Amino acid sequence: MRTVYLNGDYLPENEAKVSIFDRGFLMADGIYEVTSVLDGKLIDFDGHAKRLQRSMDELDMRSPIAMDDLLEVHRELVRKNEIDEGMIYLQITRGAPDDRDFVFPDPDTTEPTIVLFTQNKPGLANSPMAKKGMKVISIEDQRWARRDIKTVQLLYPSMAKMAAKAQGKDDAWMVEDGAVTEGSSNNAYIVKGNTIITRHLGNEILHGITRAAVLRFAKEAQMKVEERSFTIAEAQDADEAFVTSASTFVMPVVEIDDVAVGEGAPGPVVARLREIYLDEMRKAAI
Ligand code: PDD
Repeated sequence: MRTVYLNGDYLPENEAKVSIFDRGFLMADGIYEVTSVLDGKLIDFDGHAKRLQRSMDELDMRSPIAMDDLLEVHRELVRKNEIDEGMIYLQITRGAPDDRDFVFPDPDTTEPTIVLFTQNKPGLANSPMAKKGMKVISIEDQRWARRDIKTVQLLYPSMAKMAAKAQGKDDAWMVEDGAVTEGSSNNAYIVKGNTIITRHLGNEILHGITRAAVLRFAKEAQMKVEERSFTIAEAQDADEAFVTSASTFVMPVVEIDDVAVGEGAPGPVVARLREIYLDEMRKAAI
């Protein structure tokens, strides 16, 4: 049984209970982060902690924990649960007032709820999908307009994933006004020659922590980076395609809406980016 963290306490997972009035439960009034663990160490903790703070600031949410203590909680959960490879999920909600109300509760009397738990995934960095590649469908992006905030409103991404599964595919790329925004839970990229193309930052996509690192490594490896919109047709015509996220790192995409990308198999640029990313991030892990 896992040991989880809830509002200052380490508890067995079946003893961690949250109120039915919690605004995360009633209103999706909560934000989250997913940080991966390799070799028992945290990958890019700093990036995730910064984005967490930004999400809270954007929603006028008060942090229930100092960032230094947050690092210690992550590390303690890794230790207690003996995680070598996997993820740590963190969620903070605006807490549980006495009743349901659209008005935000007074932060002086209603404490935020903070939950962290581990997900043990042996072999995370050695996923068979990295050799096989993912098949994706396209789907209209029907999420709210502030996708830069990492909220727990994941119903639409979950529906998009189910639509992909219903067609025997692995994931969905969401499209708005004819341009790809991102994957259901990852950022989307195409490769043309020596150029990596991915959508520019804005409110339309989550500012991926993995994205920032991968673009930095791509530039250091003398690849060209273009941050701009692209269409499904352009992606189908690309040499290679991939996604990035804390849980998949750099993952090749080999088919989009039944059309093979490039050779229809993972290509060399994506394989190289994945290798650089994993090597460098393992070295910098804390
Ligand atoms: N998802 N875009 C969306 C919509 C996401 O949900 C995620 C992450 C990303 C990639 O961000 P990062 O590189 O910081 O993980 C992009 C996490 C992993 C999840 O929901 O499980």
